Amino acid sequence: MNPEIRRFPDLKELGRAAAAFIINRSEECVRERGVFTLVLSGGKTPRTLYEHMARPPVSAMMPWAHTHLFWGDERCVLPDHSDSNFATAFQAMISRVPVSTQNIHRIPAEARPPEDAAEAYEKILRGFFKTHFNSDSHLPTSAEGNPFPSFDLILLGVGEDGHTASLFPGDDVMEERKHWVAAVRPRNVSPPIPRITLTLPVINMAGCVMFMVSGAGKRKVVRSILEDPDKAGRVYPAARVRPRHQLLWFLDNTSA
Ligand code: 6PG
Repeated sequence: MNPEIRRFPDLKELGRAAAAFIINRSEECVRERGVFTLVLSGGKTPRTLYEHMARPPVSAMMPWAHTHLFWGDERCVLPDHSDSNFATAFQAMISRVPVSTQNIHRIPAEARPPEDAAEAYEKILRGFFKTHFNSDSHLPTSAEGNPFPSFDLILLGVGEDGHTASLFPGDDVMEERKHWVAAVRPRNVSPPIPRITLTLPVINMAGCVMFMVSGAGKRKVVRSILEDPDKAGRVYPAARVRPRHQLLWFLDNTSA
């Protein structure tokens, strides 16, 4: 499937458009299945989107009662730490909207060792999908015959090195084909701490993936991925993201 590329004059307009897309998609999913599974991205870029989604009238348009929130990755810190992806989303959006705590599926990244945190999150995901989707519609199997969850929408960012979620270039986790969640200990990244991440098969089993990218430092990576994803995929994990139905790139004018 060819990616849909949309460019915006700034991060604010990107956030508005992303919120509109999320609301439309959530309404479709709730109409069809009564639930919307949304995986939130980490990093700083999505903050503007989260703040926009927390403000009326947008916040009143989201079917929060039927929306379940997950994370694509998390740093191994406490959930109120300034480096925590959960903390970013909680402060900017979750604390300001009527989403039930039962619908917030946080990565318990503070568990030690990180491998225990990854195992615990995979257990949370398996339990959720078993409870909410009795048919296999949302547990399709990979080419290797392993079942993976199909999230309705996964939000992702891209690093200047082409990483996405916490899938970093050259990391063995790129070859994971069985587990849904993994612990990684990336080198030369900021902050230099272990992370928990969804694996590539989970990301690619999603109905839709939306990259949100801002920053001139990512321009080279973005251009390389959009020009030749197969060639870029030999180096950049973000180029290996190929969701089942729809791939969106929302770019602000600094990153395109
Ligand atoms: C993380 C993210 C990571 C992020 C990119 C872009 O935990 O850091 O999940 O993949 O999306 O590094 O980050 P910025 O949006 O801050 O540039």
